[in-house]
Amino acid sequence: MKIGLLTSGGDCQALNATMRGVVKGLYANVEELEVYGFYDGYKGLIYSKYRLLTSADFSGILTKGGTILGTSRQPFKLMREPDENGLDKVAAMKSTYYKLNLDCLVILGGNGTQKTANLLREEGLNIIHLPKTIDNDIFGTDMTFGFYSAVNVATEAIDCIHTTAASHNRVFIVEVMGHKVGWLTLYAGVASGADIILLPEIPYEDKKIIQAIERRHKNGKGFTILAVAEGAISKEDAKLSKKELKKKQEKEHYPSVSYKIAEMITKETGIEARVTVPGHTQRGGSPCPYDRVLCTRLGSAAAKAIIDQKYGNMVAIINDKTELVPLEKVAGKLKSVDPNCQMIKEARRIGISFASKDD
Ligand code: F6P
Repeated sequence: MKIGLLTSGGDCQALNATMRGVVKGLYANVEELEVYGFYDGYKGLIYSKYRLLTSADFSGILTKGGTILGTSRQPFKLMREPDENGLDKVAAMKSTYYKLNLDCLVILGGNGTQKTANLLREEGLNIIHLPKTIDNDIFGTDMTFGFYSAVNVATEAIDCIHTTAASHNRVFIVEVMGHKVGWLTLYAGVASGADIILLPEIPYEDKKIIQAIERRHKNGKGFTILAVAEGAISKEDAKLSKKELKKKQEKEHYPSVSYKIAEMITKETGIEARVTVPGHTQRGGSPCPYDRVLCTRLGSAAAKAIIDQKYGNMVAIINDKTELVPLEKVAGKLKSVDPNCQMIKEARRIGISFASKDD
């Protein structure tokens, strides 16, 4: 059997752990196995940059963050466009696959990566996709690997801010990654006891943020902590078209939404507001135990899917069971936080503000 492996898009803590699961599951059950690792995501497949890997490459990497193969962002929307030298990328990827005579290509990545994986499936390649992202926004799986490790990092960042915020009687904003969705902010915010949580799925109202801060002050709490998703948006901005919003943001010149909120808070309350952006630390370091278990399970399930020749699927985790989900059913869909979900209601019940009318 010959398989190819690639990791594409933004990295996360648990890519190596997942590849280890896949390869160990195959080595233990397939007599002759060749594993080709493509460098830097789809780039390696397009430009035929790869290496034959051995079982030694997968030893000792369960706890190692990043990816032993390297990664890059190759936007899906440009896949059908020739590169700067006129190379047809899809044809080049197919050519590498057929040249190596692969039985299957295992692709680890997020939403964009998944769309290209589906494109390659449509082009006739045998594909298995594994759902990676700290954003947890992949439709069709309850959980993506990398998510809980990132929750740990973001939670620790907010925990550290908590002690300094309490000493200084300030307002602190911690900006959490997550791209267009609020999963990471919601989990890290609840886990760290943030007072206000702002998610893209619940456009915020300035006056609600101020009310929440003033309420705390009245109750003798001199400080307030906001967990703000990088994609958080105000109620009025949410009404704008993409084009109008871009124009407005260019004029405003804020490095990110958190700085805009910080300025508004200081203006309205006179309280100092500070912004902390943990940024890419959220994708770094070792995978947490939950992710190590998840990756080992997903990787092992992927190995079984390959052995059973059940190609064209994403290996998902649904109700704590690994399942194969057809790529055609999930590619291009986003999994957002439901603003009316139980977790948000529970958070509201204990006084966490989402800065909206339902507070
Ligand atoms: O998708 C993972 C992610 O970390 C997002 O949370 C974030 O918006 C984005 O990638 C950052 O991308 P880059 O590493 O390319 O700056």
